[in-house]
Amino acid sequence: QAKLVEASKRLAAYQAVKDHLDPSYTRVGIGSGSTVVYVVEAIAALGPAATADMVFYPTGAQSEELIEAAGLRLQYISKLTAGHQLDVAFDGADEVDDDLNLIKGGGACLWQEKIVATAAKKFVCVADFRKLSPRLGTSWKKGIPIEVLPMAALRVLDDLKRMGSHNPRVRPGLPGKAGAIVTDNGMWIIDAPFTPLLLPKDSDKSGIQLGNEDNGVWSVDALADRLIKIPGVAEIGLFYGKNGLQVASGAQKPVAAYF
Ligand code: A5P
Repeated sequence: QAKLVEASKRLAAYQAVKDHLDPSYTRVGIGSGSTVVYVVEAIAALGPAATADMVFYPTGAQSEELIEAAGLRLQYISKLTAGHQLDVAFDGADEVDDDLNLIKGGGACLWQEKIVATAAKKFVCVADFRKLSPRLGTSWKKGIPIEVLPMAALRVLDDLKRMGSHNPRVRPGLPGKAGAIVTDNGMWIIDAPFTPLLLPKDSDKSGIQLGNEDNGVWSVDALADRLIKIPGVAEIGLFYGKNGLQVASGAQKPVAAYF
């Protein structure tokens, strides 16, 4: 299985770069995680001439190292001047639903990932076959990663429980060591599982009442709207269409998920 997964990630990454890295592009976002390693490999394989005019924007310390190790030109999103956008951003995901809504943040990089994704005209999600599911929360059972201000973590946990999250937890750091994982931004991560499963935006056709904390059934949009408003929450690992990537930023919804 492990070999198959790696082969699938690699195949997806090479295909995504082939289909979505136009030679005319100059600004490219590079996400985090183990799948993105293959994206960078595929870009580097195009050769120095093909990437000579391209600048690459990381989503954290890991992708910064990847870009530099591949000999690609690094630039920070903080230097992207007002009114400019990235041409494309490539990133992985922990789960992808039928509407291309995503759970991200399994590697604790979600805040910078969302900034880079929403700065891009086109966001390309690269994912292996394990990650597709009809509803978010089906295959990724650890919960929605939420980046929080450490001093607010206990308050946020309380709010999440009130909203029906089952056993939300501050993500621990290194195995065998005390303390929480600390993100690139000095924050903590809370993983908040929600059941019944999250429903895609249009599932209200099923007649189930959505976004209702009495029955604990949430649509992606309603849950995301609610989570981001909890005081102390910096960013959430739900990447979704209309209210997220498209409307808030002008960027497009993920244009492709490969399996
Ligand atoms: C990092 O915080 C995440 O959002 C990753 O993009 C996501 O966890 C996918 O990682 P893998 O490619 O390692 O599965």
